[in-house]
Parts: sequence; structure tokens; C-alpha cells
Amino acid sequence: MPSSSSSDMDNIPSTPGKFKMDKSHYRRWHHIPLAKLTFYTFVFLGLILVFFFKSPSSTSSSSSSSSYPSSLSSSDLSRRSLKTNSWGGPAWEKRVRSSARIRSRNGISVLVTGAAGFVGTHVSMALKRRGDGVLGLDNFNDYYDPSLKRARQSLLERTGIYIVEGDINDDVLLKKLFEIIPFTHVMHLAAQAGVRYAMENPSSYVHSNIAGFVNLLEICKNANPQPAIVWASSSSVYGLNTKVPFSEKDRTDQPASLYAATKKAGEEIAHTYNHIYGLSLTGLRFFTVYGPWGRPDMAYFFFTRDILKGKPIPIFEAANHGTVARDFTYIDDIVKGCLGALDTAEKSTGSGGKKRGPAQLRVFNLGNTSPVPVSDLVGILERLLKVKAKRMVMKLPRNGDVQFTHANISFARREFGYKPTTDLQTGLKKFVRWYVSYYGSGKKSDQ
Ligand SMILES: *[C@@H]1O[C@H](CO)[C@@H](O)[C@H](O)[C@H]1NC(C)=O
Repeated sequence: MPSSSSSDMDNIPSTPGKFKMDKSHYRRWHHIPLAKLTFYTFVFLGLILVFFFKSPSSTSSSSSSSSYPSSLSSSDLSRRSLKTNSWGGPAWEKRVRSSARIRSRNGISVLVTGAAGFVGTHVSMALKRRGDGVLGLDNFNDYYDPSLKRARQSLLERTGIYIVEGDINDDVLLKKLFEIIPFTHVMHLAAQAGVRYAMENPSSYVHSNIAGFVNLLEICKNANPQPAIVWASSSSVYGLNTKVPFSEKDRTDQPASLYAATKKAGEEIAHTYNHIYGLSLTGLRFFTVYGPWGRPDMAYFFFTRDILKGKPIPIFEAANHGTVARDFTYIDDIVKGCLGALDTAEKSTGSGGKKRGPAQLRVFNLGNTSPVPVSDLVGILERLLKVKAKRMVMKLPRNGDVQFTHANISFARREFGYKPTTDLQTGLKKFVRWYVSYYGSGKKSDQ
């Protein structure tokens, strides 16, 4: 979906005047006899109808082999990620049920969106390990190499977790999933990530992070029982905030990227659904999550690849040689935070799409509280890889990245004992070990 940049929106001319009907054309219509005009109108309408029913964009993931009606609301944008999907039927439902079955006393049943993603995979495994029911949902889009997502999917399948292939914008599919499983929780991690890619493909951020989120919330609010929702916001909502460490109460009204703006919008939308429908909602502001099975678009990941290949790596520097630093947070610590948030989430209070009482609304920082300069990150990678990096020091571009991030995590510590335990050195060692075993240490990584 992110790569399908030729959306309807992109085709709208920047000069609205182009849409105005040419005056001479307009006048000519008056000379056509009424009968002829009526005839052509019918032909035209007929063509539109035929096109509508044949058009692949008017069908959703359920198009090919399922017997369920397809969603007409799924937009053109989702076509790419939905076109090969199929769902439905008794065998499919059996897989869904088996995956979501709770196997421990007091276990929960969780729908994990973005389950083939980095955090989604780790959270799904952790839930499954302790006996919770887990069903994954992922559209396997090609924002980054989908083969990595497929490999994570195999990992999950080996532990009995099924990932339904579909988009969070597909309301028919989501409704069906809630019909089959009365999920107690939704762990919503599906999103369009990346700060700089937002300039290339802005609509994919709106599609996933706003439209998709709203669609999911609509389904959740109508579900009976309503699930509690824990979802991924982002540390990027702090934007140009300079007060450190970042605390949940700090201002978040100066996002520095469209990505950050859509995550911030998500936090406001969460407030609305909590307020109107009694949905229990917990947003987690992740701080630069890294580790095995990570995202290839993140610096620590492609630095590793490029250092091994002998390719120069860009190291950003702020104005006046200012250090760029990140509060790198190891995936296992993030997973503990996610589980802590799920376990302390109170039940939603609404039913039948109506609010019955006030419900829980929370936002937590999940960071490491120990920012590390990016140049130190490169130093650690050099030692672990035993290869000298070709450093290319560059000015930090003003296109979304902020100079530093630093989380105040005292709120998450107080609420569910969140306490990160992995420093960058230790975490990167585990990442590099995984990287080398997955891609090899040489040219194989170039794929
Ligand atoms: C962190 O946030 C808490 C409130 O959640 C505040 O009491 C504390 O002073 C903050 N710590 C720092 C170092 O700013």
C-alpha cells in the first residue's frame, strides 16, 4: 500500500480550474435533442455500473474465494495489499479459532494488528508463550522487503499463531473476525512508519494511521463485548519540544513530520472514541525500538548492512556540530511494556455502540531513558562487526528528524512496573548476532 502512490488524491490537479467545464463545450450540449441526450445518459450510466461491479478497487480482501460480501468502502490505496488476499470458509475459521484460543487460566484473547511487523511479531510471541490467545492481522505491504515479514510469519506459525492477511481498512473482514472471536484486547501495531518516507507517500500515512485506525475503532466500538485497545503512538509526537526528558504531560502540538502528525491525530481520535463510546484506550509512545527481526528502514539496521558492505553511512549532525542522539529501546523491554499496558488495561465500558460509563484513557512513554549519540551507535557497531565504518558526517535535514529523544518513563514504571534492562551495547550484540545469522556477514545482505 505505501508504494501505490498513484492514488486518486494524487491525480487531482493542483489547479482546480482544470476541472471547470470548457464554456464552448457547455454551450454545445444545448443543441443536442433531448431524446439523444437521454439515450447517451443511459449508455453512460450503464457503463459506470458495469465498471463499478467489475472494478477490482471496489472489492476487498474477500473478493477472490470468500463468500462474504466485499467492502465497497476500501479505497484504491489498499488495492495493492489486498488484491491477492482471500479469507472465509470453515477451514479458515478453524485456523482463526485455534490461533485465538486461550490456553491459560485468566488468559486474554488479543487481536494483534501489524503482527508480521517488528514489534507485532515479538509481542505476539510473548503473548502466546504465556498462554494468551493471539490472532494476527497484517497486509504484508511492501514498504520494506516483504520477505522479512514472511519470515517473521513463519516464525509465528511455528508457535501456532495465524496471521490473517488483510487491511485494517477492511471493515467487512474486521467485523467477521469479531464475530468469530470475542477479543478481550486489541494490540494495534499496524501503521505506516518512517519519518522521511512521508514526503514521498503522504497518503499512505493518512490511509493507515488515520483512516485505518478510525475503521478499527468503529469496529471495536460496535463489538460486543468491546475490547480494550492498546496501540502504538510514537515518541515523534514530541516534535520540536526541547524540554528533556520528554514527559507525557509535555506539549505535543509541534510535530516535525507528517508521520508524527498522524500519530498525534491518533491520540486525539483515541480521546474521542474513549469519550463518546467508552472504549478503553492506551497509547504507547515508542522510543526508537531496535533488535532482532527489526525494521530495515531504521538507521541501526541499514548502518549494519552498509558497514558490512563497505558503503559510506550518513551520520547526521545538528547545527553547530550538535550531537544527534536517540533513546534506543531494546525490543524485549518494549514487549514488557506492551504486556504491562495490556494487563493493566481496564475493560471498555460501552455496549451496543453506546457508552455506559467513563472508561480508561492513557498514554505512556516507552523508552530507555538513556539517549545515545548516533556516532556512539556507529562505534558499537564497528566493534561488533569488526569493520571500520565509512562515516559521512552531514547536516541533519529539516525533514522530520528531531535532534534528540529522551523518555521520562516514571509514569509507566508507576502503573505497571516498566523498567528497561537492556543497554545499547547488549541489545546491538543480540541484533548483530541475528543479522549475521539471517543475512550472512557478507554480500548476501544485499537483497
Ligand atoms: C518525570 O515525570 C514525572 C511525572 O510523571 C515527574 O514527576 C518527574 O519530575 C519527571 N522527571 C524528570 C527528570 O523530569
